[in-house]
Amino acid sequence: MKDKRTVLLTGAAGAVGRVLRDGLKPDYSLRLTDIRELGEPGPGEEAQAADLSDAEAVYRLAEGVDAIVHMGGVLGAVRENGKMVGESCWEDVLRSNIMGTYNVFEAARRAGVKRVVYASSIHAHGYYRRSTRVGLDSPPRPDTRYGLSKAFGEAAGRYFADKYGLQVVALRIATFKHRPTLMRDLGTWISPGDMVELVRCSLEYPDTHFDVLWGVSNNTRSLYDNPNARRYGYFPKDDSEQYRAELLKDPAAADSNEFERLFHAAHLAASEWAGDVSKIT
Ligand SMILES: NC(=O)c1ccc[n+]([C@@H]2O[C@H](COP(=O)([O-])OP(=O)(O)OC[C@H]3O[C@@H](n4cnc5c(N)ncnc54)[C@H](O)[C@@H]3O)[C@@H](O)[C@H]2O)c1
Repeated sequence: MKDKRTVLLTGAAGAVGRVLRDGLKPDYSLRLTDIRELGEPGPGEEAQAADLSDAEAVYRLAEGVDAIVHMGGVLGAVRENGKMVGESCWEDVLRSNIMGTYNVFEAARRAGVKRVVYASSIHAHGYYRRSTRVGLDSPPRPDTRYGLSKAFGEAAGRYFADKYGLQVVALRIATFKHRPTLMRDLGTWISPGDMVELVRCSLEYPDTHFDVLWGVSNNTRSLYDNPNARRYGYFPKDDSEQYRAELLKDPAAADSNEFERLFHAAHLAASEWAGDVSKIT
């Protein structure tokens, strides 16, 4: 029997990380890491807490693994009791997302790890209007300090691929949820099952230099063209449309205002806003 490849999974205690931990376990040995409690490692798992901004710790984590799935970092919104109360501060974004992501790529380079699958985000392009198809080569248009860090992450991935020969797959995840809960999720949702499949395809596709794939399900009302998905063998199974009728009846699922509906940034569009909508065409 062929030995399983070992994958380092950062952010393993997070929402996506927990789903990937379960979903990838049958096919890979997993080295799990997070700054938070990871629980007891099961068969085929190792767990090691670390702060991604600690370069030496990240270098140690990467030793002896075949690939890295980098999900760790802070999100764009700060929430209290489920409600957004602001956006992540610069210090957290700098430490966890910018230094953390640089450390992950540098660790891969030092340890000779061939492939890194990187969790990017729609928020690197959040101030494009929803009426615009954001292309894989569209210049970044970040909506937050978080979105800025994801634009950095994609650029870092390309840099490490071009300069050092790393194989990098950046996944522009739109809305990861167990099911869509808002009308606007209909265009952006990725289901847990499709998320696992997307990461599996990103680990297995043989001929990668630097590629970007949208992290979305097979949504009828998709806002994104995903030209690399088919090539990678990613054929998502879920479609948000099955929830539409239910969402239409739910007042809590409606867009909160026209401004949020305008941009891909959605709930983060209005955060700290002092811009001019007419200038963002
Ligand atoms: N959930 C979404 O809809 C969505 C959308 C776009 C992109 N993404 C990206 O996907 C990835 C996973 O998202 P998620 O929803 O699971 O987020 P999450 O917040 O649930 O998980 C992220 C994990 O990273 C860990 N982390 C943060 N800072 C760290 C540090 N300095 N050192 C070590 N660990 C640290 C956190 O403890 C957390 O467990 C993130 O990079 C996120 O930006 C998610």
